Amino acid sequence: MSLAVVILAAGQGTRMKSAMPKMLHQAAGRPLLGHVIERAKELEASKIVVITGHGAEAIEAHFAAEPIVFARQTEQLGTAHAFLCAQGALHGHTGHVFVLYGDTPLMTRETLHNALAAHRAAKAGMTVITGVLEDATGYGRIVRNEHNEVIRIVEQKAASEAEKAIREWNSGMYIFDSSAFQLAAQIGNNNAAKEYYLTDILELYRQHNKPVVAQIAASSELEGSNDRVQLAAADKVLRDRIRVKHMRNGVTLRDPNTIYIDDTVTIENDVILEAGVMLQGTTHIATGSLIGAYSIVTDSQLEGAVVVKPHSVVEGAVVQDGTDIGPFARIRPGTLLEAGVHIGNFVEIKNSHLLEGAKAGHLAYIGDASIGREVNFSAGAITANFDGLDKHRTTVEDGAFIGTNVTLVAPITIHQGAFVAAGSTLTTDLTEGALGVTRATQKTLDGWAIKYWTRKLETAKAGKLPIIRKWLESRKPS
Ligand code: UD1
Ligand code: CA
Repeated sequence: MSLAVVILAAGQGTRMKSAMPKMLHQAAGRPLLGHVIERAKELEASKIVVITGHGAEAIEAHFAAEPIVFARQTEQLGTAHAFLCAQGALHGHTGHVFVLYGDTPLMTRETLHNALAAHRAAKAGMTVITGVLEDATGYGRIVRNEHNEVIRIVEQKAASEAEKAIREWNSGMYIFDSSAFQLAAQIGNNNAAKEYYLTDILELYRQHNKPVVAQIAASSELEGSNDRVQLAAADKVLRDRIRVKHMRNGVTLRDPNTIYIDDTVTIENDVILEAGVMLQGTTHIATGSLIGAYSIVTDSQLEGAVVVKPHSVVEGAVVQDGTDIGPFARIRPGTLLEAGVHIGNFVEIKNSHLLEGAKAGHLAYIGDASIGREVNFSAGAITANFDGLDKHRTTVEDGAFIGTNVTLVAPITIHQGAFVAAGSTLTTDLTEGALGVTRATQKTLDGWAIKYWTRKLETAKAGKLPIIRKWLESRKPS
């Protein structure tokens, strides 16, 4: 029988104290609601309906690419009212309906599957997922009769002293049969909060002689993220699970607790992550790669075995097999490093394409450039890509040599095999096989420094520069 999922996500989330809707606050690199949508997709539902209200536009825009539909709840009149907002989107649906909360990201695939299996096995009208806590203050409590059957859910505000002592609490996650909308429509708001409580549906199911099942799960999976303290706790739980998942898949994590991997990251087996590594966003790391200590890789595709040495930052880049980066390198968005490229320390690359085997070993800036095969981009060389208003491109063709401390003022093309002498500033193209040099001719003044040092040491404190003194002494005619 087909299954639909309804995710309640219209609430404000006042305790976040945020201009951003609660559902968009992130844990382990995904918005809270994103985690719930992932779980819903795993249930292989025929339709997923997300009820939005507060911050609806931002939420709907954020998840526009997901296989879900949105239904608006313009006024937040309670959970039953929110649920009923899904009725139009699920018109004609005859199977079960699973209700989840958009701010409750920790339940596992197993917990949801177990609840569904229990619901089907019991041929239940309604299954409620519950937790048990020493002190369940604040939550709706599960009231059972002398036969241990669930008869009612009582909210904190309405609970008697005896009911407040009940340790079993309502997670707010339910599985309903197809009569849910018809029953929810009968719920009133005759309570202290003047809200339409979805919890009231339980008694309606019982009145229709449909079995109600409580499926107990770990409370730690059922708790929502209502403020930043709970958000941080959820983040920690999710990140621990992510670490374990990757280690079980064959990824080595050295000192796992120091490594932060977003839920959205994919890693192949036989990858090594050293301490302090952060992998974020849409990053993918292919087998054989090594990410060195304290490096951060964001929204990047490491397509082959790549070595990122410690303290490097890689963002929005595609990196091919056999390339090495760092230590202390910065690779910025729009960069493609082909196979066997070598990027050394204190090199910054932005929006550039380095072809196979190109090298920039030390202290260089390459921006808005195309760097050909076997090009050596030496220490201290830079592309001057910005004129104060616009960006311009630099092209260095295969086999060209860019000497140390060279400035290539873009737009400029250095043609194949050409040689730019150290210290030169080039403003016009260099033809194939040419030498480009803009240095002033060197002057040598013999003995100039001997006079200089002699004069300086006349007034210097005794003991200063002993090596130079000795050298000057040794040059005096005896
Ligand atoms: C609800 C349950 C309570 C349970 C608790 C678990 C009811 C009446 N009570 O209480 O038994 O122990 O959850 O956390 O259901 N929402 C909407 N529209 C609304 C109201 C709520 O979309 O009009 C959404 C919220 O965004 C949230 C979820 O529903 O994701 C729960 O709402 P919340 O107000 O937190 O319910 P509680 O009063 O905590
Ligand atoms: Ca709540």
